[in-house]
Amino acid sequence: MRMTDKIALITGGSTGIGKATAVRFAAEGAKVAITGREKAALQTAAQEIAELGGQVIWIDGDVQYKVDVDRMVDTVLSHWGTIDVLVNNAGICSPASFLEIEEAEWDRHMAINLKGTFLTGQTVAKVLVKQAKGGSIINMSSVNGLAAEKDQAHYNATKGGINLLTMSMAIELAPLGIRVNALCPGFIETRLTKPLIDNPGAFGPYLQTIPMGRAGVPEEIADAALFMATNDSRYMTGHCLVVDGGQLIKLS
Ligand SMILES: NC(=O)c1ccc[n+]([C@@H]2O[C@H](COP(=O)([O-])OP(=O)(O)OC[C@H]3O[C@@H](n4cnc5c(N)ncnc54)[C@H](O)[C@@H]3O)[C@@H](O)[C@H]2O)c1
Repeated sequence: MRMTDKIALITGGSTGIGKATAVRFAAEGAKVAITGREKAALQTAAQEIAELGGQVIWIDGDVQYKVDVDRMVDTVLSHWGTIDVLVNNAGICSPASFLEIEEAEWDRHMAINLKGTFLTGQTVAKVLVKQAKGGSIINMSSVNGLAAEKDQAHYNATKGGINLLTMSMAIELAPLGIRVNALCPGFIETRLTKPLIDNPGAFGPYLQTIPMGRAGVPEEIADAALFMATNDSRYMTGHCLVVDGGQLIKLS
């Protein structure tokens, strides 16, 4: 058990990468709080984790609103009294060509992906500083934060912003014993990527851009998140860890 009695808050924890991370952390002995906007999905995921023997609570809340973020963090503290790890995972991606991105869609991506990461990160960081026992914050970025993908200008910008936010948080929080790192997944099979997976004409050629020749699965990102959360990565901060089957190293 590598996270015995650690308390982890995972935003967007009812589905995909967030849920796999919650399952993995719970299997390693952590108490996990999963949050999100979909109550039914949160309930189902929490039940699954509990049936596997994990300790879990779920809290509904929207990361773009400070009042919700404060309530989520307060709920974790009232249940377990402390927080050790934050996985800032909640995010959306709704592709559109640069010339057609509506202002509202730009704002929605910024509010959820970038502002949500800031708000939750700052709120939890304040708790970690007060606790004065260290901690690890993991921001879910993307390979799209390191290279540009067509029809994703708004999403790319949020993930690029998350990478610099991660470094900015890391330099200010390192002297206080708090590590902040970003995870940059490549193409992972979740409902976010389902539209492409369900389009065989497009998915086949897309897989050829990945040297390992396949999509990743959420559990492969959860394993990297576990590394970031634990002492195994104790001398690492401000790092953007790419987990992408080699996609980013390939020119064509
Ligand atoms: N799937 C991929 O290929 C991939 C690649 C790189 C990065 N990511 C990132 O991983 C993260 C998780 O995505 P996923 O692929 O598991 O998809 P997903 O849709 O299953 O997960 C996103 C989660 O975020 C939650 N969420 C969305 N908006 C929210 C809000 N305003 N407040 C609170 N929760 C909210 C959703 O309810 C959902 O549980 C995202 O940040 C995404 O950008 C995914």
